[in-house]
Amino acid sequence: MPAAASSTESVPATQFDSQSGRSAAIEVCGVQHFYGQGDARKQVLYDNNLIVRPGEIVIMTGQSGSGKTTLLTLIGTLRRVQEGELFVLGHPLHTASPPEINRLRRRLGFVFQAHNLFSSLTALQNVRMALELQPQRSSRAEENRRCQQMLEAVGLGDRVHYKPRGLSGGQKQRVAVARGLVHQPDILLADEPTAALDEASGRKVVTLFQEQARQRGTAIVIVTHDNRILDVADRIVKMDFGTIARDTRVSEASKIGEMLSGCSIFDGVTIRTMTQLADRMSVQQHSAGTRVIRQGDPGDTFYLIRDGQMEVRREPGEQWVAEIGPGDFFGETALLTGEPRNAHVDAKTDCVLYTLDAKSFQEAMNERASLDQEVRSTLFAD
Ligand SMILES: Nc1ncnc2c1ncn2[C@@H]1O[C@H](COP(=O)(O)OP(=O)(O)OP(=O)(O)O)[C@@H](O)[C@H]1O
Ligand SMILES: [Mg+2]
Repeated sequence: MPAAASSTESVPATQFDSQSGRSAAIEVCGVQHFYGQGDARKQVLYDNNLIVRPGEIVIMTGQSGSGKTTLLTLIGTLRRVQEGELFVLGHPLHTASPPEINRLRRRLGFVFQAHNLFSSLTALQNVRMALELQPQRSSRAEENRRCQQMLEAVGLGDRVHYKPRGLSGGQKQRVAVARGLVHQPDILLADEPTAALDEASGRKVVTLFQEQARQRGTAIVIVTHDNRILDVADRIVKMDFGTIARDTRVSEASKIGEMLSGCSIFDGVTIRTMTQLADRMSVQQHSAGTRVIRQGDPGDTFYLIRDGQMEVRREPGEQWVAEIGPGDFFGETALLTGEPRNAHVDAKTDCVLYTLDAKSFQEAMNERASLDQEVRSTLFAD
């Protein structure tokens, strides 16, 4: 088995990308950004890396001024990439010519805070603008039908012929949402799309986003502070002082949580600690035939099997001890006793493992011990 097929590099477990073989809709590599010139030049983005797959909904949060809009406008081709590489739908923005960028821009949809509606046009005509920029046009009747349908989907079926001055802030925002989606973009970039909306309208908008992602594979990045819409996120990315401080794949975080709470060894550990553990876990991939733990080696890692089957063998003679699979854990004995590994553990099939360093594991065990103590003394006091 080629050793290269095993990856022991440390990737945070909550970022594990089980679709890493698929193409990316957006790929941000080492992107930095500066505003101003000379003495006034100020760095606002530092070494950002992000991959968004088709059909994925990424919610980006972070305090004001952390660089969310800047990153979104770079992805949206509305700003020039200064440093680093940025691929959108497979095209390198950092080297693309202006005509290439124009062609690419038609495949993107935008919903920005300043919704930029044309005041002399009706809601329907504003939405039509997005279709008029497309290279492939349909009949006027067909285009109007699509615009009408999109306005109905955002709850504005009775406002299609109103001009912006006759619409509330939230209604204008929804016209902008319809305009951002009507041409069926491959990527939708939205900056606070629900900020001006009440609960019901906000829900309509994110449901529409979800349909586009599921049915058309639209990759969607939503910058928001609105925690009412967090449930639609496949990923939650947090920006802090110009960098992505956290990037959590929601399904992966819940899978880890579920697996950890199924581990008998963590019985009695609080949910809070469990969440912290999930955050500290990394992921390793091993190909079939790899020896993950060697008997006699010192132990510094706890392992939990995400996918695959493993075999435990013991010296002398590499005697077969057990086969373990998803949800099973190993490596805890050496961490608890301080003794060397007491068995070999081999990947029988290709495996994906969650790992935890000795210190984090020990902290969880200490908490469990103190909880155990507390339960005993409470029972005793009663
Ligand atoms: N056109 C500009 N010229 C100079 N500095 C800018 C410009 N736009 C943004 N900045 C600065 O860049 C930093 C990042 O701004 P950005 O708008 O990306 O933040 P944000 O995370 O979107 O914030 P908010 O949540 O308030 O919208 C801030 O310090 C901001 O002051
Ligand atoms: Mg912003």
